[in-house]
Amino acid sequence: AVDIAKLRDLTGYITLDTGYKNTGATKSAITFLDGEQGILRYRGYSIEQLAEKSTFMEVAFLLIYGELPTEKQIADFEHEISHHTLVHEDMKKFFDGFPSHSHPMGQLGSLVCSLSAFYPESLKNNQTEEEINLTIIKMLAKMSTIVSWIYKKSFGHPVIYPQNKYDYVSNFLHMTFGQRTEEVAVDPVLVDVMNKLLILHADHEQNCSTSTVRIVGSSDCNLYASISAGISALWGPLHGGANQAVIEMLEQIKNDGGDTQKWIAKAKDKNDSFRLMGFGHRVYKNFDPRAKIIKKACDDVLEKLGVNDPVLAIAKQLEEVALKDEYFVQRKLYPNVDFYSGIIYRALGFPTEMFTVLFALGRLPGWIAQWKEMKVNKEPIGRPRQVYTGSTFREYVEMKG
Ligand code: ACO
Repeated sequence: AVDIAKLRDLTGYITLDTGYKNTGATKSAITFLDGEQGILRYRGYSIEQLAEKSTFMEVAFLLIYGELPTEKQIADFEHEISHHTLVHEDMKKFFDGFPSHSHPMGQLGSLVCSLSAFYPESLKNNQTEEEINLTIIKMLAKMSTIVSWIYKKSFGHPVIYPQNKYDYVSNFLHMTFGQRTEEVAVDPVLVDVMNKLLILHADHEQNCSTSTVRIVGSSDCNLYASISAGISALWGPLHGGANQAVIEMLEQIKNDGGDTQKWIAKAKDKNDSFRLMGFGHRVYKNFDPRAKIIKKACDDVLEKLGVNDPVLAIAKQLEEVALKDEYFVQRKLYPNVDFYSGIIYRALGFPTEMFTVLFALGRLPGWIAQWKEMKVNKEPIGRPRQVYTGSTFREYVEMKG
């Protein structure tokens, strides 16, 4: 077999692939994705079946531990999580210091990184499997509490504490919308759609934020800091931040008179930096299977909740026009997971700036599974090479006058 490392040292050869469009950085047994055929499977199970039949916690278990849980396993898993949902009260002190209108993703990244200060056992070198597992449980448990704190803060409302009697998703709904009505946590429409959305976002192999989690974790960095790095990577509008950008774009189109043809033309104009947000994907070149499920869920939920959102009609019109347009067809640009998700979040009552935080809540089990796989496989520290283009030697020049 050819020893690539030796060959590279002998020849000085380096592969240059900016944006890693064609470079595999790892082997993984978590998520199967066929971009040409629009297939997405977690551990071999189709995203369509999981979204239809399972819960977010079952999917989290599947991603992290590799198998669908038995009834006992899921009960134990949820029981353990529910006993770690309280977040150290001292964390509230600096949480209170964030300006109330600061971006929720900035708050989330900082708070998650700070968990390492409050739960320092996560910093221990050579954690046992049991200790790693406890950190994973705490991460899952505290994330939903932190996300609901951030939601409450955006309205200046007091936080609502978790209750062990609820399952994960119901507890999250209780902590966010608990003051609306007593039954909000068990409203089957809300619970069902929240489960679906979180499942559809739960993993997506080596995307920007997941690769970030793996590369940060590869330096042996603790789970909380690795996840916090992933949250930062997710924030950008070309990645998870697209769900916020989509709604802002649809609002802008609505306020501009709703002429979708005009905005499609803008997206095609190479002298205009505007892109159709929620369209296109690095890997899917046929359709994004998540977008199909979310589009249907969007119709169902808006109907069930009796919400008539004019931006839904604009989104559908944009999709219809774009899918017939040569520019989008040639470049294989289709709606992605973010195109319709924001309309659902909005119908549920989340402010636009919260959307990417909800994406992060969904993506958490995937990040954890990928971080764990990287550790179990004892992967080496991630350290890309470069092709240097600057001067190779210059004599130092003393500063004058
Ligand atoms: N609107 C208009 N043109 C587009 C769009 C778009 N949304 N997306 C891609 N294109 C065009 C590019 O201008 C380029 O055209 P060219 O060949 O004439 O230069 C061509 O399609 C290929 O685009 P790239 O940017 O090279 O594709 P890449 O794989 O690097 O980018 C990305 C993928 C970032 C998702 C891109 O399609 C995009 O910016 N989409 C809008 C933002 C978005 O929705 N992001 C969320 C992605 S899903 C997620 O991360 C959860």
